Amino acid sequence: MQNKVLILDFGSQYTQLIARRVRELNIFSEIKPYNKLPEDLSGYKAVILSGSPFSVRAEDAPHPDLSQIKGKKPLLAVCYGAQYLAHFGGGEVAPSNTREYGRANLSEIVDESSFLTGISKGSQVWMSHSDTIKKLPENAIRLASTADVENAAFRVADEDTYAIQFHPEVYHTSDGKQLLENFLVTIAGVPQNWTPDSFVESTVAGLKETLGDDRVILGLSGGVDSSVAAVLLHKAIGKNLHCIFVNNGLLRKNEYDSVLAQYEGMGLNVKGVDASARFLDNLAGESDPEAKRKTIGRVFIEVFDDESQQVKDAKWLAQGTIYPDVIESVSATGGPSATIKSHHNVGGLPDYMKLKVVEPLKMLFKDEVRRVGKSLGIASSILGRHPFPGPGLAIRILGDITPEKVTILQEVDAIFIDGLKEWKLYDKVWQAGAMLLPVNSVGVMGDERTYEKCVALRAVESTDGMTADWVNLPYEFLQKTSNEIINRVPGVNRVVYDISSKPPATIEWE
Ligand code: XMP
Repeated sequence: MQNKVLILDFGSQYTQLIARRVRELNIFSEIKPYNKLPEDLSGYKAVILSGSPFSVRAEDAPHPDLSQIKGKKPLLAVCYGAQYLAHFGGGEVAPSNTREYGRANLSEIVDESSFLTGISKGSQVWMSHSDTIKKLPENAIRLASTADVENAAFRVADEDTYAIQFHPEVYHTSDGKQLLENFLVTIAGVPQNWTPDSFVESTVAGLKETLGDDRVILGLSGGVDSSVAAVLLHKAIGKNLHCIFVNNGLLRKNEYDSVLAQYEGMGLNVKGVDASARFLDNLAGESDPEAKRKTIGRVFIEVFDDESQQVKDAKWLAQGTIYPDVIESVSATGGPSATIKSHHNVGGLPDYMKLKVVEPLKMLFKDEVRRVGKSLGIASSILGRHPFPGPGLAIRILGDITPEKVTILQEVDAIFIDGLKEWKLYDKVWQAGAMLLPVNSVGVMGDERTYEKCVALRAVESTDGMTADWVNLPYEFLQKTSNEIINRVPGVNRVVYDISSKPPATIEWE
């Protein structure tokens, strides 16, 4: 692909954010570890250097050779990147006298280039550094300062090389997007033509060429990623795409039938496999959370393997892997960290199947997958679904699993989720669900003493599931939901609401 932007990662926690902000400008960007510079740089129109937890003065800090880039491609250096340019250009980088974390304001702007166009004095920027650039290199020109940071922005004379001490990628830098646009569009001349429609067009053409007349198998989960991957592949190869949707008996109430009907309505060639009994038999008596996950993973592979054998001459396995799963970023210790969970869905397929892997979404972030899905005409009821864990209700039933417990939790969960939709709260929540706790508590219904199950409701806000906070749902909603659950679901006499954040808790209870 041409016209892309290369982001060299020095291990900053914000590197992925830079990629997202660039893509928000309809420009495609790729992250590479600083020590894995691509040999062929011809497709990159500009380069951005990220921040880093390191000090440039540390011996083991990233000090890559930038001779292929600096002065040859438009270059924007952010935070550590700016200090690296200053340090190696003959300037001086030293520890700051004052702490420089958080909010600051540009106090002086000397804009003799178009880099700071549209950004006025007083504009808020976000700092996060303990070293500071005391002296610029000889050939550098200061562009902006803040009260505490004299060299907050500079450029190198006679080059399209720019450097900023603050982070343009975080939302708290109010003109960060404008600054990225100034650099990428005005200075580097990168065309803004990367849109969901253009992605669909080029991906479908690429898939047609790669897959030809080959048959492809895809495991659908009902979630956003596998659904969008399926529709893209279907557009490219039609009936040669064979989708398999497995009911593990741990889905939400009526989910198997409704999702299957929805897929069939979309024209996908999808085979539903009801393996509920097989999963529940294998799980019987198992109460350890990790053992439950492992059993489900193993049975899923067995079922998927059996079904895949039915598709004659299949050559490819398609997966809905997305960019955060494959980004090879730099760990805080400086080394490139390995891929974290690529192929986590069906990673354990037996070798004899010898399927090649195709992952049409592997360069997209989750919000981009949703936009592509919209451009493909996929219903918002699929695109807006809350994330749901692969092991399903198994990790929401604490302790061992029985068909009766699954039914109780499905009923409770349905009341909660339907209520969220009815009260127009569903789209405001990132993920919600109910947990069946392994305790009975005493209650009184009519004149009778009861000794029944307790359920916990959980609703969180998050952007990526890595951190999360509980949602302040209206008391009236919680009151009505609790009443409805206890009155309508036999076996439950108590409802609690989980008010823990992640960390220190997690989203799921197991
Ligand atoms: P935790 O509980 O770790 O969950 O805070 C973070 C996100 O991951 C989902 N999750 C899983 N997804 N297999 C999955 O496919 C699993 O074993 C699993 N465990 C948790 C969880 O629903 C949340 O979105």
